[in-house]
Amino acid sequence: MKKLLKLIPLCTFCFLFIQLQAQNKSRINFDKDWKFKLDSIQSYSEPGINDANWRILNLPHDWSIEGTFSKDNPVTPGGGALPGGIGWYRKAFTVTVSEKNNIVLIDFDGVYMNSEVWINGHSLGIRPSGYISFQYDLTPYLKYGNEKNIIAVKVDNSKQPNSRWYSGSGIYRNVWLITTDKVHVDHWGTFITTPQVSNKSAIVNISTNIQNEYSTNKVVVVNTKLFDAANKQVAMVSSNETIANTGVSANSSSLPVKQSVTISNPALWSIEKPVLYKAVTQLLVDGKVVDTYETAFGIRYFKFDINKGFFLNGKPVKILGVCDHHDLGALGSAINTRALQRQLEILKAMGCNGIRTSHNPPAPELLNLCDRMGFIVMDEAFDMWAKQKNPYDYHLYWKEWHQKDLQDQILRDRDHPSVFIWSIGNEIVEQWGDADKGDTSGREIARELVSIVKALDTTRQISTANNDDSKNNNIIQSGAFDLIGYNYSHEIWDQFHDRWPGKKMIVTESTSALETRGHYDLVPFDTIRRWPKRWDIPFENPNGGYTVSAYDNVSAPWGSTHEESIKALLKSDHVSGMYIWTGFDYLGEPTPYSWPARSSYFGILDLAGFPKDVYYLYQSVFTRKPVLHIYPHWNWKQGDTVDVVAYYNNADEVELYLNGKSMGVKSKSGDDLHVKWRVPFTPGTLKAVSRKNGKIVLTQEVKTAGKAAKIILKEDRALINADEKDLSFITATVVDKDDIMVPDADNLIHFKISGAGFIAGVDSGDPVSHEPFKADKHTALNGLALAIIQSNGEKGKIMLTASADGLTSSTVLIEAK
Ligand code: GAL
Repeated sequence: MKKLLKLIPLCTFCFLFIQLQAQNKSRINFDKDWKFKLDSIQSYSEPGINDANWRILNLPHDWSIEGTFSKDNPVTPGGGALPGGIGWYRKAFTVTVSEKNNIVLIDFDGVYMNSEVWINGHSLGIRPSGYISFQYDLTPYLKYGNEKNIIAVKVDNSKQPNSRWYSGSGIYRNVWLITTDKVHVDHWGTFITTPQVSNKSAIVNISTNIQNEYSTNKVVVVNTKLFDAANKQVAMVSSNETIANTGVSANSSSLPVKQSVTISNPALWSIEKPVLYKAVTQLLVDGKVVDTYETAFGIRYFKFDINKGFFLNGKPVKILGVCDHHDLGALGSAINTRALQRQLEILKAMGCNGIRTSHNPPAPELLNLCDRMGFIVMDEAFDMWAKQKNPYDYHLYWKEWHQKDLQDQILRDRDHPSVFIWSIGNEIVEQWGDADKGDTSGREIARELVSIVKALDTTRQISTANNDDSKNNNIIQSGAFDLIGYNYSHEIWDQFHDRWPGKKMIVTESTSALETRGHYDLVPFDTIRRWPKRWDIPFENPNGGYTVSAYDNVSAPWGSTHEESIKALLKSDHVSGMYIWTGFDYLGEPTPYSWPARSSYFGILDLAGFPKDVYYLYQSVFTRKPVLHIYPHWNWKQGDTVDVVAYYNNADEVELYLNGKSMGVKSKSGDDLHVKWRVPFTPGTLKAVSRKNGKIVLTQEVKTAGKAAKIILKEDRALINADEKDLSFITATVVDKDDIMVPDADNLIHFKISGAGFIAGVDSGDPVSHEPFKADKHTALNGLALAIIQSNGEKGKIMLTASADGLTSSTVLIEAK
């Protein structure tokens, strides 16, 4: 046991910081050069087997995304229609003799799923959850010097279905190797809180768990320095403590060392300016630095108000969030920081300020990005508790693992300033326990989970995402929550306080509207359709090509159109915000159809990341950037009558012209968020002009396209890092001879790459395409296709050419530096 902390005057230790800069810990990325085989042979755990012919690859890796779509894959179209199975990964590495007295640990950020890890033939443990991060201590089994160590990982995603969406399979997140002294900061060992914050000062409490794996007690000096965003030291605190030998590995609990400092004039973390501080913890034993540990944190205060919603740093903020699953489209679930960052950049530009990690712990990189970019994160733990949604899902492991998995998630994520809400479950079946028959398990489990979270963090709100909004909901009835989460039910958000007096409200999930990018059914805009009839009734008369109109007039029956939910949100002061289902289309859950569809239609952006028209609806309502967006395209048949819709802001009115003739001036009326015209089609130019006080704000033109003639390539970034990970997303647009996009072009585009990169994936955002993502060609959907280019680690130029039969090709140059 530890002795009580003794605070020591700061100056005594000042010189130590100057003299002892040695970095005694190393945390290196361990993703390179793994061997992989898709096979179920159990002896692959043994160090001596012959793996010479196995495939060599770098992590993160998702083998499912490399597979072939089939309705017969056991995962079903609901899981993305790609193969699962059992896969093995092996890696050989050496450890220098100089590490003999150190501890060597391995961190897995996430392995889907049912993993078991061996080092030199010794099993280190199993982890059923496919989403949680975990660490093993390799030290007792290591060989030093020239002798090879073999790490083997079995990943079992063969029992299907185990998910309601595409999970991916494999070591799909990063792996890290850590070497550290026997005295070291524990895994996820710091917890930094800011219990009192004002513009003038902030109290920063730092709690540090320390491990001592020597055979004797050690006197440890704990020096914590705080740095501001400019890397200027703003505070320092030093403590001295005797840490007992625990003799156990990294994850055991130990009494934390508690320190506290005050920072003057703190820069507060906000959505607009997400300022980060850094705490650098140094542990010293016998005057020598034995461990250095960095924690990023933010200083902010917030509240959820019963009547007025969410406040950040004293100011009201409507949370406009999105829910997203973890797949990255054509890249599958293999985590890539740039791909995530691109998604967040696109969302931020839309006015989105929140992310819900539906329905599981996210990749650590997502939270790092949300910290840096300013998003309000709802960090979710589970999609099911003890009762199943699918035969092989996490309910099988619930009893044994839920406590540890939840604890680890909170420990891992509680320093992130972007995390404001813990959600301990989505649409949990236990909501509906039959209390008359004594089934109130929802209440008991809810209380248990809330107490697990509260034991580790009392600084955030805890909620659940409920689709049973009735008084009988067992989970809400547990009384364990202040912040109640509603999924959908936008018609009754205003009755919330009648039902749940004294409670605070967040819309954990909304909308579930459906669209295929660039496809429009010529039914009047106001004809709202709920597809399918019910979630369990198959769709009877699908649109040709299994499309869904992008006019924002189709939604799932449990959901709403985008505009319906936004309207409800804007008039409900008590609703803290809403998380829209979803930001991006994702693999799996192909509502309203099933096969041949294999991915969702719910996204504001499609699977390739191309915006649907509703993107501009959000932008016009939730940003100050001037917006004028008219749709649809202008390639129709003579005699068609077409509804032309405009989303706009910063203006009083919009006038629409067809071939120079005014179709009328319109202004939004009532709570409408759009204007529209019924226009008899004639080919030519549609032009919209928005005006404020009679002055033109913006104009936009949509022209009838002629025959497809050429391809235009446009990269999102011309300069990438030559680090084997960085990406450039390159859009191929099929245009006519005058560079007008051909709105129904479906040419097969061939991509050819040379130089310092490779094609990591291709896509078009079509939920029905069965073409592979790992390829050098793809069919365009409604004029667009995407190639994702990845650095191969070398510096130099990357040249991508796109060609298609009968079209003039196009080339783009990227530089990897
Ligand atoms: C919700 C559920 C989500 C997704 C969505 C589709 O009820 O929480 O995971 O299935 O429906 O509309």
